[in-house]
Amino acid sequence: MKTARTIAEVRHAVSTARAQGLSVGFVPTMGGLHAGHISLVEAARRACDFVVVSIFLNPTQFAPGEDLSTYPQSLEADLASCDAAGADLVFIPDVETMYPGNALTTVSVSQLTDTLCGQSRPTHFDGVCTVVTKLLNIVAPDKAFFGRKDFQQLTIITRMVADLDIPVQIVPCPIVRESDGLAMSTRNQRLSAESRAQAVSLHAALTEARDQIRQSHSPATEIIDAIEAYIRLNAPDGEIDYIQIIDPETLCDVETTDNGVLIALAVKFPGARLIDNMLVDSEPRSQ
Ligand code: PAF
Repeated sequence: MKTARTIAEVRHAVSTARAQGLSVGFVPTMGGLHAGHISLVEAARRACDFVVVSIFLNPTQFAPGEDLSTYPQSLEADLASCDAAGADLVFIPDVETMYPGNALTTVSVSQLTDTLCGQSRPTHFDGVCTVVTKLLNIVAPDKAFFGRKDFQQLTIITRMVADLDIPVQIVPCPIVRESDGLAMSTRNQRLSAESRAQAVSLHAALTEARDQIRQSHSPATEIIDAIEAYIRLNAPDGEIDYIQIIDPETLCDVETTDNGVLIALAVKFPGARLIDNMLVDSEPRSQ
């Protein structure tokens, strides 16, 4: 496995791979890698011949006062995990490399960014879309792999590459969970033992809600009230940011739950804001 710190090094390595007829897979990350990230690298390894991972803690997707300065970083361990998972190249740019001077361009997707996390983080997705566009332009992969835990991000990026004719296939990958159901997240390590124990109730509430939808197709507001009550009871340290039941394509709120829906939520614990979601298809399937 090689590492690259400059854009020119990445372009050279990728064009060398392409000259050998290899397909290129890409996994963008912000570091602090866990089994969820590694599952993306493994998926890229299975699907592509040459696998590029980026590790870049992107400052533009954090608003002032958010957790940029405390976001967990573990470069040595991350590189070892990438190597073990079969990455060929890890791109580790610094901020100056990604944002030299005063850029005048921001990539902004409308509508899909107004809901869910976009309500409390109004500038977040502009930062994500801009950096992902830049990374896709630098790496120029055939396929890029994103986890379904960040469902809104995945939907926005899929729309962005379609709208901008970026020649890449966005590959959605399953949520990876701890054995007790908590969705893996770099931020989990910042939870106190007490909050960590309470955080399991996010997945438990989603699972109960899914079962309720499958059994009775109750109206969305009833399901949301039940999730809220469950979390208030079982996660008293958590402050609910949102609980929404939406159409998984448009991300618009739905009133009825007869067709496939996505239940999505965000809860702020001291030290970490956690998100999770569950797709409820008309036919049961695993995420
Ligand atoms: O999902 C993330 O870790 C980040 O939002 C991403 C896609 C790497 C962009 O910085």
